[in-house]
Amino acid sequence: MNFKTKHLGQNFQHFKTIVSTQTYLKDLVQKETVPVGTLILADHQEIGKGTQGRSWFSLPEPQLMFSLLLQPILPPHKLPIINILCGVLMAQTLESFDVPAKVKWPNDIYLDGKKCGGILSELITQNQEAYIIVGIGINVTAKTSDFPEELQKQATAISIHKQIDRYEILDLFLQKLEKAVYTWDQNQIIEYSQEQFKKLWLYSNQTIQVQHGSKNSVGKSTQINSTGALELHTTHGIEKILSGTITLLTK
Ligand code: BTN
Repeated sequence: MNFKTKHLGQNFQHFKTIVSTQTYLKDLVQKETVPVGTLILADHQEIGKGTQGRSWFSLPEPQLMFSLLLQPILPPHKLPIINILCGVLMAQTLESFDVPAKVKWPNDIYLDGKKCGGILSELITQNQEAYIIVGIGINVTAKTSDFPEELQKQATAISIHKQIDRYEILDLFLQKLEKAVYTWDQNQIIEYSQEQFKKLWLYSNQTIQVQHGSKNSVGKSTQINSTGALELHTTHGIEKILSGTITLLTK
């Protein structure tokens, strides 16, 4: 496959079935020198890895699931910004195919109020250098009945809205990400991610509950700060939350 990029995806492996593109790429980086921009793509995963120790559900049809090795564009404490950047770039990619996707902080892509994709960014080291592995899963082809019953109200696939070729989604996303990580400096990446997040944020200014650690905070939010933390306006002031699970309380 030829992506319209110079770096991202130029070194690439495509598997019909793999345990997880994320663990495969991580293991590869520990074993040998892997060029930045390496892309591991799979149609099916046996044990897809989600955030917070969760797994990534496997669907019957081939989906868009990949892991990408990136250079350390931001200091480790700003890693959540990479999730936001990838989320907004993926939502924009889908929008350009007339699919009105939104981002749900911190790492989900939503369509018609349901999750259609997720992002997992991890820091790793190779020869004492830090790198980032971004893993993205997008449900491109599925019927509602393909999801387990308990997920049917929460999960969706792009094909329920519109049929799009998964390689076209991937190619456009890689072009957008390449422009950001190879031509912008840290501040531009952060400012762009913050600005676009405001436009694409699913629960902008709605009352939400954020479960983080053993705490539940309630409030409204319109933005993230420069480390990717959600700025939640609560009755006690502004809380900056680094990661958590959100529930919408009012529409
Ligand atoms: C989440 O929403 O929890 C993040 C899900 C990330 C899933 C992708 S699919 C491709 C890559 N390989 C994995 O094992 N996980 C990520």
